[in-house]
Amino acid sequence: MSKTKRRYVCQACGAVSHRWQGQCGDCAEWNTLVEDTPASVFSLKHDLSNGGRAIEFVKLDAPGEPLRRRSTGLAEFDRALGGGLVPGAAILMGGDPGIGKSTLLLQASARLAGEGADVVYVSGEEAAGQVRLRAARLGHAGAAIRFASATSVRDILTTLGQGKAPELLVIDSIQTMHSDTIEGAPGTVSQVRGCAFELIRYAKESGCALVLVGHVTKDGTIAGPRVLEHMVDVVMSFEGERSHQYRILRALKNRFGAVDEIGVFAMAGQGLDEVPNPSSLFLTGREEPVAGSAVFPALEGTRPVLVEVQALIVRLQSGATPRRAVVGWDGGRLAMLLAVLESRCGLNFSSAEVYLNVSGGYRLSDPAADVAVAAALISALADKALPLRSAWFGEVSLAGEVRPVAHAGLRLREAAKLGFELACGPEDIGDVPQGLRYQGIDRLPKLVDRIMAG
Ligand code: TYD
Ligand code: MG
Repeated sequence: MSKTKRRYVCQACGAVSHRWQGQCGDCAEWNTLVEDTPASVFSLKHDLSNGGRAIEFVKLDAPGEPLRRRSTGLAEFDRALGGGLVPGAAILMGGDPGIGKSTLLLQASARLAGEGADVVYVSGEEAAGQVRLRAARLGHAGAAIRFASATSVRDILTTLGQGKAPELLVIDSIQTMHSDTIEGAPGTVSQVRGCAFELIRYAKESGCALVLVGHVTKDGTIAGPRVLEHMVDVVMSFEGERSHQYRILRALKNRFGAVDEIGVFAMAGQGLDEVPNPSSLFLTGREEPVAGSAVFPALEGTRPVLVEVQALIVRLQSGATPRRAVVGWDGGRLAMLLAVLESRCGLNFSSAEVYLNVSGGYRLSDPAADVAVAAALISALADKALPLRSAWFGEVSLAGEVRPVAHAGLRLREAAKLGFELACGPEDIGDVPQGLRYQGIDRLPKLVDRIMAG
């Protein structure tokens, strides 16, 4: 008799181990290893005598039902969703605590209800009194939302199953939900996954759009198993600095649309205001162009972020060794770029102190920042400001060529979305979004000419 080997499968990431451990060696989740009995090997007869049923194949080019979308009542929310809510879609909304997820969803729910939609909002975190106060503050005190403070998925689904399904169901948050068919406290991996599974199944069967609020862990991922991201149709992230007013809503995954559209909001006294023209937020107090400042459309993973690169050049009279100080960028790369500017463009930084700073405490590692840094340096050296609302990107080689970079289209769309009018970067980047003037630059000396020409 052969000895059957025991195997344990992590319920969070699916990693297999031959020894039971308290912590998964792959994803570092605790208490997720469960013994797995391998299915006995058997072979199926390839005909209908084995009890299987024939599945039906359909042609993908056959006319199907067009996707019906419903506006959330907030144009920026719709934009991030790729055009609005799709019936039966499950949306996971992640974001730091206090960033405004509940506010955004309450506002969208109230707008939808105002248009006659049936909206159910279930909060496991806040009591009705608290939510009532918030609704009053948002000017939606009279909204016809069906609100409940509940945490039992069984109770929620039993109640909803008794009547017609709502058009939107908001669950705030999935980590507070609890299912009595699953062991463990609310917020544990198996509870979060089990509750999400039940709720998503309800959404698919009834056709109601479902929004699950998800808390974010310190490293920025949505708490609970990553598998939650696979279960839903749309993963959204609501981001921003709590000390700043603006908030950005992005889709990180969208089975019904593109993921490179963002929605921009500003947190005000009466809730979130939509910001159809975000440059007004990002370029605050920047009515006058300043020499030495260049905006760079950076990429964080596949997410575009606009950051400002600032350079300051101080001419030295004495023969002392000039300082070079960098915050937020690589010092070695700055030295290289200065050398290229000196040898290929004939600029002279040798007797000047050079300071470089990336605003907002952001750290740049994207090689496409070269052109933005070069533009800031040239602008500071010449004491000539770059045009307002201009963005700069591209990689610079030692020969002084400007090289193509990844995701130029994504960077340009973000810049255009945020109200930028001019972009300079590598040549031949393909389609340029509407409203944006693009100037391709093949060599660094051309960049100098471009900046000097104003
Ligand atoms: P909230 O929606 O509760 O955040 P989340 O659900 O993501 O945890 O938002 C809480 C913050 O928003 C709170 O710190 C105060 C601020 N806020 C305003 O500035 N104005 C408002 O009108 C509202 C409702 C909240
Ligand atoms: Mg909340």
